[in-house]
Amino acid sequence: VFVKRGRLDMTASNHQETIRVLLVEDSPSVALQIRTLLGDDSPEGSFALAGAGNLATALELARQSAFDLILLDLGLPDSQGLDTFVEVHGKVPHIPIIVFTGLDDEHLAMETLRMGAQDYIVKRDVDARILKRAIRYSIERKKLVAELEQSKHELAQKTIRLIQIEKMTALGELTAGVAHELNQPLNAIKIICDDILRDIANNRFSPTQLDGSLGEAIGEIDRMAEIIDHMAVYSRRPTYLPMKLINSAVPINGALKLLGQQLRNSEIEIVREIDENLCLLGDAPRLEQALLNIIVNARDAVIPHKHKTKMRITLKTYLNGGDDQERTYLVYEVGDNGVGIPEPLKEKIFDPFYTRKEPGEGTGLGLSVARQIVKEHGGRIEVDSTEGQGSTFTVLLPGGTKQQLT
Ligand SMILES: Nc1ncnc2c1ncn2[C@@H]1O[C@H](COP(=O)(O)OP(=O)(O)OP(=O)(O)O)[C@@H](O)[C@H]1O
Ligand SMILES: [Mg+2]
Repeated sequence: VFVKRGRLDMTASNHQETIRVLLVEDSPSVALQIRTLLGDDSPEGSFALAGAGNLATALELARQSAFDLILLDLGLPDSQGLDTFVEVHGKVPHIPIIVFTGLDDEHLAMETLRMGAQDYIVKRDVDARILKRAIRYSIERKKLVAELEQSKHELAQKTIRLIQIEKMTALGELTAGVAHELNQPLNAIKIICDDILRDIANNRFSPTQLDGSLGEAIGEIDRMAEIIDHMAVYSRRPTYLPMKLINSAVPINGALKLLGQQLRNSEIEIVREIDENLCLLGDAPRLEQALLNIIVNARDAVIPHKHKTKMRITLKTYLNGGDDQERTYLVYEVGDNGVGIPEPLKEKIFDPFYTRKEPGEGTGLGLSVARQIVKEHGGRIEVDSTEGQGSTFTVLLPGGTKQQLT
């Protein structure tokens, strides 16, 4: 009994509302016909009709009051054909429109469908049932489309916010580390300054000593600047990253150029297997920074092995189908025959401020920054390593293509 009553109630409330229709039609006889068709108060609910005989009146009425739907004849005294539709749709894009048409201009009506009309009705075919159904469907369809657009918009907004929140969380985790890391050089600078002041007060001030002290202080300041520099990666809004189609060799060559002299002096053999014909969508300076961090780590990993083997770093680029087959990844591979990474630390090394280097040698930010940049490109970094033999860092970036850039 309950279910039945519930259903009845729903039907009643659904069908009791009045649908407000603006009828734009210059022929009085057609207008009268439509009024008659929509006139009888069927149990399906009723229609309130307002009429306009030309475009100007129609636009005026549409602006003044809220209509649920417009029935639009395209041939009016002051406007003809598609223009009529474009004018009305342009002024009140949120109101669904059904176009009235004669038998001979159905293709015109089809054109209005493509431009956003909900439906069209051939005048001579029109009967009460067809007309009422077309009106109801058109209103529903328009409502659904509007809702869909709205949720699409909301989803896009939420995605941007989520990415930002994720970054802020990462930044929050970083803050404690940053405070700690900045504190050390700050303390050192303070001690240096205190010493200088004490020397001045005791008349023991010597310019040569000052030289050394200031040099030390500048070293500490540089260290702080480096940390702050890395922080910038975390605070940028994701939408600001300018992605361009770039040759994949550009960021790796840039990184090598920065390291060039150092690498040559250190007798490390660089094996390059770089395909100059591969492209990807990305931001070259950021990718260069990520690759540089990984290559610097490789350098630091091979140097302790100097006396055991010929130090070697291998750089490769290639395309890979990827595990989901749908995408083609552009792969950067940085291999070294250095100290390697113990199995339990393979994830840990990506944590901000995690370093296994001597105090003062590494900030521990290199890999966390590299991972952040690669994430912004929709990619990931994988590590393969055997302790005592070497490591391979693989950077996978979606959207790689084989294409010669001019
Ligand atoms: N190719 C590698 N071989 C062996 N160990 C590595 C390699 N790359 C990274 N690691 C280990 O991971 C740790 C973290 O690396 P990361 O680049 O984040 O910081 P870092 O090199 O210590 O300092 P920074 O890069 O900020 O100067 C390193 O200290 C090192 O122990
Ligand atoms: Mg590093």
